[in-house]
Amino acid sequence: MAFPIHRMRRMRNDENTRRLVRETSLTVNDLIMPLFVCPGKNIKNEISSMPGNYHMSVDVLVDECKKIRELRIPGIILFGLPEAKDLTGSDSFSETGIIQQALKALKREVKDLLIITDVCFCEYTSHGHCGVLEHGSVNNDATLELLGKQALSHVEAGADMIAPSDMMDGRVGVIRSALDSKGFKNIPIMAYSAKYSSAFYGPFREAADSAPQEGDRKGYQMDPANSDEAVRETRLDIEEGADIVMVKPALSYLDVIYRIKQEFKMPVAAYNVSGEYAMIQAAARNGWIDGDKVTMEVLTSIKRAGADIILTYSAKDAARILNQKDYI
Ligand code: PBG
Repeated sequence: MAFPIHRMRRMRNDENTRRLVRETSLTVNDLIMPLFVCPGKNIKNEISSMPGNYHMSVDVLVDECKKIRELRIPGIILFGLPEAKDLTGSDSFSETGIIQQALKALKREVKDLLIITDVCFCEYTSHGHCGVLEHGSVNNDATLELLGKQALSHVEAGADMIAPSDMMDGRVGVIRSALDSKGFKNIPIMAYSAKYSSAFYGPFREAADSAPQEGDRKGYQMDPANSDEAVRETRLDIEEGADIVMVKPALSYLDVIYRIKQEFKMPVAAYNVSGEYAMIQAAARNGWIDGDKVTMEVLTSIKRAGADIILTYSAKDAARILNQKDYI
């Protein structure tokens, strides 16, 4: 039975009916805000390609996190810009490293906000790769040991959850046993499982000063053309103990988000990355699109695809919109 019996528009007639039949709802509970911490005092420098996002010193970060908490965003993910870089990225596992300083201050001064740390080396190494280099390429197994050390050092300084983004083979298992061996059995791991080698990370690499000096990350991050491989990558991370699995980027990979959710029925996170954010902001600043509306449409589409959690530079904007009394 078709037209004229069925008229799809009956369910679209007015906002109340649309509310009743709406299948996907985005809430503030879904959001994680990425933040960048740098050395110094009273520093808040805007990242030019990511308007509304800043390099912040620890004191400013603490205030920012209090505001994020007030917006009822459940968590943040922290990225560090170290005072100095070296071949092994040793600031990332130093007791006095930038992330460790930030964690200690946040734990002291901000209550009830989940503090997640990105675990990787590209922000901390002088060569900008995600691990230890040997003859021009990253040595997977040598990097694993340092990843365990970095994760442990973050947790000892107060991290509530660890998010490895390095894409070394075997890292989730190594981090799990490093944490367990020191009694941190209840600290969850959110694994960047299907992380693609993507040009959408461009603005982030400016933000985190983490572009590789030579070469690229194609040897360890995934080929954008692959999706079966995303399922294998994710399965391996789950077997090694991942509690949340992530697909990254989000928008060009909605099919991958969908597949991973269908296949594993695990908590799935999607990273709405820097380039995706920058495109919307650039167009909105030119008056070409309505930035707020496009942001909400994009975040809803990521959820509709199957993500339970969205890491997004729009988290504060989205929370403000969602918290408005008249937002439906
Ligand atoms: C670190 C890391 C990157 C991002 C998150 N963690 C960059 C990269 O892999 O080059 C990208 C985030 C973004 O673009 O918003 N490895």
